[in-house]
Amino acid sequence: MKFAIIGGSGLTQLPGLEQGRRQVVRTPYGDPSGPLTHGSLNGVELVFLARHGYGHTIAPHEINYRANVWALHSAGVDGIVSVATVGGIRPEYGPGVLVLPDQIIDYSWGRRSTFFEGPDQPVTHVDLTVPYDDRVRDRLAKAAANLAEPLSLVGTYGCTQGPRLETAAEIRRMERDGCDLVGMTGMPEAVLARELAIPYAALAVVANHAAGKGDSRDAISLEAIGAVLEGAMARVHRILAEFMRLSVPPSR
Ligand code: HPA
Repeated sequence: MKFAIIGGSGLTQLPGLEQGRRQVVRTPYGDPSGPLTHGSLNGVELVFLARHGYGHTIAPHEINYRANVWALHSAGVDGIVSVATVGGIRPEYGPGVLVLPDQIIDYSWGRRSTFFEGPDQPVTHVDLTVPYDDRVRDRLAKAAANLAEPLSLVGTYGCTQGPRLETAAEIRRMERDGCDLVGMTGMPEAVLARELAIPYAALAVVANHAAGKGDSRDAISLEAIGAVLEGAMARVHRILAEFMRLSVPPSR
C-alpha cells in the first residue's frame, strides 16, 4: 500500500516525513502544484503533495487539480488522503474541530473537472453517489479513535470558488442546501480521483465559523485562523501517522 497525502493550507509540509526524493512530474494536463515528495511517515512509504505549492502561492481556483491527481496516479498510489481547511457552517463545527466529510456539493465553476474530454475520449459518466471512499474513511476514523482524538464522521462539504470568502447570505443558502462545511478545494479533486479509481477521502480541519456564523457574525478573523490551524495540524499529523501505521498489511 502506498498512500498519498495532499496537504492544504496549514500543511504545506509534513513534519516527521523522513524525506526521500522529490520528483518533478510532467503530465498531459500540465504541471502539478509542485514536485511530489516521496518519503515515509512512521516507517511507512508515502507521497506528499502541497496543494497550493510548497510556498503556498497557488489560489484554489488556479490549482491544476487534473495535473495533481494524474501525477499521484502515475506515482502508483493506492489511495489519497486530502487534508482540507474549511469553515464550519454547522454550529458545533467550530474552530479546531476535525471532520471526515461524507458528502460534497460543488459550487465551484470554470475548473477543469474531468479527464474524459477531447476528441479521442469517450463520454464517460462516473458514479459519485458516495464521493469519499469508505475504507479510507474508516481507517482515518480508526486512527483518530486509537488516539482518542475527536473526529466527527458526518459532514457535507460545500465547495466554493474562492479565493474570496463567502457572504453571510451565501452561507445561509449553503446551510439550507444541507452543507455543514465550506471550503474551496474539495472539487474537482474528489471526482478526478474517482475517474482514475483512486480511493479518496478528505480530513477537514475547521479553521473558523463560516461567514455570518458564531464569532464570524460580522467578519471572519484571518488572524485567528493561523493560530487555530497551527494547533489543529499537530493533531492532524498524529492522526496521519497512526493512519499510516494502520495501513501496513498484517503480514509485514
Ligand atoms: N470559507 C471557505 N473556505 C474556507 C473557509 C471559509 O470560511 N475557511 C477555511 N477555508
